[in-house]
Amino acid sequence: MTNSREIASLILSNVYQGKKLDWALNTNKNLAKLDSRDRSFVSLLVLTALRRQGQIDKIISSFIKKPLKKNSQVNYILKIALAQIMFMDTPDYSSVNTAVEISKKYNLEKLVNGVLRNILREKNTINIDSTELNIPNWLRKSTIDNLGKEKLSLISKQIVKEPSIDIKIKKEIFQKLKWEEILKGKNIFQETIRIDYKSDISKLPFYSEGHWWIQGLSATFPVILINHIYKNHKKDEISILDVGASPGGKSFQLIESGFKLQSIEISNVRVKKLLKNLNRLKYETKIINDDFITHEMDEKFDCILIDAPCSASGLIQKKPEMLVIKKNINDLKLKQKLMLEKASKLLKDGGYLIYCVCSIISSEGNEQIKSFLKNFKNFSLFNCFSPIESFGVVNDDLPYFFTTPDLSSEHGGIDGFFIACLKKNY
Ligand SMILES: C[S@@+](CC[C@H](N)C(=O)[O-])C[C@H]1O[C@@H](n2cnc3c(N)ncnc32)[C@H](O)[C@@H]1O
Repeated sequence: MTNSREIASLILSNVYQGKKLDWALNTNKNLAKLDSRDRSFVSLLVLTALRRQGQIDKIISSFIKKPLKKNSQVNYILKIALAQIMFMDTPDYSSVNTAVEISKKYNLEKLVNGVLRNILREKNTINIDSTELNIPNWLRKSTIDNLGKEKLSLISKQIVKEPSIDIKIKKEIFQKLKWEEILKGKNIFQETIRIDYKSDISKLPFYSEGHWWIQGLSATFPVILINHIYKNHKKDEISILDVGASPGGKSFQLIESGFKLQSIEISNVRVKKLLKNLNRLKYETKIINDDFITHEMDEKFDCILIDAPCSASGLIQKKPEMLVIKKNINDLKLKQKLMLEKASKLLKDGGYLIYCVCSIISSEGNEQIKSFLKNFKNFSLFNCFSPIESFGVVNDDLPYFFTTPDLSSEHGGIDGFFIACLKKNY
């Protein structure tokens, strides 16, 4: 029988070897055999080991003289044990005993026993406040350059916390039911209810009826802004192209608002996901399954929303696997640039281009926009952020908007996000 902690260490090794956390959790057969409480425990073990990876590595390296082989399973057994000993409420003896038991398979039980017992002896003197250690170098440098050291520290304190889940209720249904009571959550803005929930989302009330979808608060902002821009227009006369549409949150908002929408998405797999979501919500949109950059279109649009592929560094609290996988963002930056250029051609004169990324890295956000503006003099930035400005920062000279994970702490944080609204001048 495979033990929860053993399963956790195997899943952790999958993630370190580049597998997506969701994939590693969903495809582990032993995990599927556990009851829901144990499954949640495994998930928490892995998430804690990832969120605290820098701190855990520092502790391990100061207690092991000779470094372990990089992909030795014992690395992951130790990381899972340390996640519990230093950062969770599990009893120390059970964390240590199981780690020793599991490492017998690798003939390294003496080492594991020795290291963990030495750590236990000094547990109370080990500093566990240095959360900056968990931010990997590739992100640390760009965060400091863009936002400063103090911000890095605030972000690092936020991302070790369990994130909440944001649920976007359909506009037309929001007023009809008492959603805070139904979902046991808090209405943090417009139709978004924030909940603390660790189990299967599809078991929540009104999932199969399609009354809501999952969408982080900051990801709802671009369409809130589009609604603000077109508040005095007939929505069904405004043509919008949603670029990079799956899993669909922004398309769903545009549909419920009544815009004339087309959605383009490059990935076949993700188009299937989008269709499944549309089907559950009983919504429809015209979907183009193609590469936006090369796709030929005769039509021009009043508004184009680019939710560009990016580092997803703004989602670091929800996706802590990015802390251990080195990202190469050069390809993404090129794609973002080409998407902006393509959109410039497909936009009507006087139209609006909304560019957003769930990133806190400036080269994907404000720098990308600055270089676009240098080459496309017929575009200008404009400030339409009044409906959302209390949630983030509106830049002064060049108006763009961003959030960072440490903001909106009164609600328990917010995903990092960048939005620029550009107008194509006549
Ligand atoms: C940040 S996600 C979009 C999230 C989505 N807008 C939502 O609100 O649910 C970016 C999406 O862009 C898609 N994508 C990447 N490159 C693309 C391209 N060249 N053309 C169209 N879609 C692309 C990705 O497959 C991914 O689904």
